[in-house]
Amino acid sequence: MPASENHRGSVRRLTTTDAAAYRALMLEAYATHPSAFTTTVDERAGLPLGWWEERLGADAGGTSVVYGAFDEAGMLVGAAGLSFEARQRARHKATLFGMTVATTARRSGFGRRLVLAVLAHARSLETLRLVQLTVTEGNSTAQALYERCGFQVFGVEPLAIAVDGALLAKVHMWCDLRGAPAR
Ligand SMILES: CC(C)(COP(=O)(O)OP(=O)(O)OC[C@H]1O[C@@H](n2cnc3c(N)ncnc32)[C@H](O)[C@@H]1OP(=O)(O)O)[C@@H](O)C(=O)NCCC(=O)NCCS
Repeated sequence: MPASENHRGSVRRLTTTDAAAYRALMLEAYATHPSAFTTTVDERAGLPLGWWEERLGADAGGTSVVYGAFDEAGMLVGAAGLSFEARQRARHKATLFGMTVATTARRSGFGRRLVLAVLAHARSLETLRLVQLTVTEGNSTAQALYERCGFQVFGVEPLAIAVDGALLAKVHMWCDLRGAPAR
């Protein structure tokens, strides 16, 4: 997918050279918004840089791709990934994961641009028919953003994640790639 640029920053696919910045962005997101992610900061903080490089490397193209948003100074300020299914009967489905925009860069359209970049990547792959994601119940900013980008709710998973002793539900959403793309 080509990089997207407009008046403010850019969005492009991340590569291994972005691993350190991607690691810092995601660790900050897990720490700042524990209820938004299934992964905890402790689970990822101890992993070597090589783990993050592997996630972004060309070989990872088979299992996942990650897009990043950069501000005008070239700082990584947001990311969203797309992971693929290995099993033949589920290969038409992909999952949007690890969506975050740094607090200082929010409400500037980076979140929307990241979701649309991931969906454009998904649409470029003939094998894919739909993209799924989950969002913690009550995260209305993220859920509304996904809805405006073409996702719809298909269910709510009760007691989905345990965060600081509370069991939170996850809203499951999907986007039919045959539908008209959001602009
Ligand atoms: C959800 C998140 C990624 C949105 O990122 P963002 O860069 O602020 O999103 P955008 O600027 O593209 O905003 C998208 C829309 O949401 C609206 N919006 C953004 N923040 C909002 C807020 N706090 N209140 C109301 N509306 C808001 C924008 O107005 C915009 O509306 P539009 O598309 O009609 O113009 C960001 O808030 C975030 O990182 N949250 C913490 C982590 C998280 O919850 N991740 C999702 C896990 S499923």
